[in-house]
Amino acid sequence: MSTGEQSRPHVVLGVTGGIAAYKACELLRLLQKGGAEVQVIMTKNACEFVSPLTFETLSGFPAVTDTFNRPERWSVEHVAMAKWADLFVIAPATANILAKMAAGIADDMLSTTVLATSAPVLVAPAMNSGMYLNAATQANMSLLQSRGIHFVDPASGYLACGDTGVGKLAPVEEIAARCFELLNKRQDMAGLRVLVTAGPTREMLDPVRYITNRSSGKMGYALAAAAKARGAEVTLLTGPVSLSAPAGVHVVPFLTTADLLEAMLKYAGDCDVIIQAAAPADYRPEAVAQQKIKKKSGEPFVLTMVENPDVAATVGAMKKEGQTFVGFAAETENVLEHAAGKLKKKHLDLIVANDVTAPGAGFDVDTNIVTLIAGDHQQSLPLAAKREVADAILDEVLRIRG
Ligand code: PMT
Repeated sequence: MSTGEQSRPHVVLGVTGGIAAYKACELLRLLQKGGAEVQVIMTKNACEFVSPLTFETLSGFPAVTDTFNRPERWSVEHVAMAKWADLFVIAPATANILAKMAAGIADDMLSTTVLATSAPVLVAPAMNSGMYLNAATQANMSLLQSRGIHFVDPASGYLACGDTGVGKLAPVEEIAARCFELLNKRQDMAGLRVLVTAGPTREMLDPVRYITNRSSGKMGYALAAAAKARGAEVTLLTGPVSLSAPAGVHVVPFLTTADLLEAMLKYAGDCDVIIQAAAPADYRPEAVAQQKIKKKSGEPFVLTMVENPDVAATVGAMKKEGQTFVGFAAETENVLEHAAGKLKKKHLDLIVANDVTAPGAGFDVDTNIVTLIAGDHQQSLPLAAKREVADAILDEVLRIRG
């Protein structure tokens, strides 16, 4: 990331080898007109369509290319450019770069830099319709979308190869507008302290067994990453999951619902926005056996469970002026009705209702389908990557805060 001192946003424009490469010159101009500083990385094939000199002249920076075989130069420059970028846009993007990004292949300056960046990445594909609609390209795009890569869909029309169909680079005005939309989100949570809870709890039965649920932590981690990318100071209270925490986030682990309550009582009071995506157990075994419980053949095993504290309701009741509390409702029936009930009962400002039985929604998938309920304001979102859902939730938090 660039420093906060610069006033002009930094955009790295990646250009790959397709006939639409010439349109990237116009995109560069639009980005500059909107106030951005733009540096260009061209693939070797892109240089066959447009001269690097054109981009150098327009951008005022050397266009970084792969036309020479000096890979040691990448290792220096790719990190610098990856950090410099506030936004990374690849237009036009070929099927080849999409496949490399999906697989994490870094064999040239563009693929290496985009792999290293923590800036938001926007991709505008352009290619022959057959290539675009091919199952491999579609699967690569779905995977990238689920990881939070943004897309501007191609348009339909007459293609350079003579075919008519989908695959034409989206209008550059539309790509530029998406770039500025993403850049504007960049620091809109600066100065806010955001606490996010994520993942499941484990309620121990004995030293080797526990009761848990299907939460993977993906929704909460996406929220933490989105809030961090938008400039917030983020504390992530996390249950046991196998995800890597976003860089720069303060991570506090918890195991049981009681641990989560303890951590919330310690950290929530100092935060402006509290978002509870974790799935804490409502009940725990009445007693935790000190030794492994022995099997008694032929006898049923009866377990008595006692109620856990409701963390959201407890902490919500302590809400201070200026704090915004967000909860989730994981429902399997009467989704909106149950969610609205929890909004009130848990003193929340916003509840995110998800029907966890819907395909592509809820536990352990990369996407979600949610309805945001805040008082009389209700907004149903279509199936989207959890990272996109996270940004929509943060947009709603900012709207509520005014
Ligand atoms: O982690 P993923 O695999 O990505 O899945 C995401 C998710 C399905 C876990 C997430 O989208 C979600 O719905 N999280 C809330 C899960 C849950 O516990 O829902 P609930 O309806 O039982 O609880 C409502 C709210 O109260 C939640 O904000 C929950 O964190 C909180 N709660 C619940 C029980 C409890 N004892 N204390 C609480 O604070």
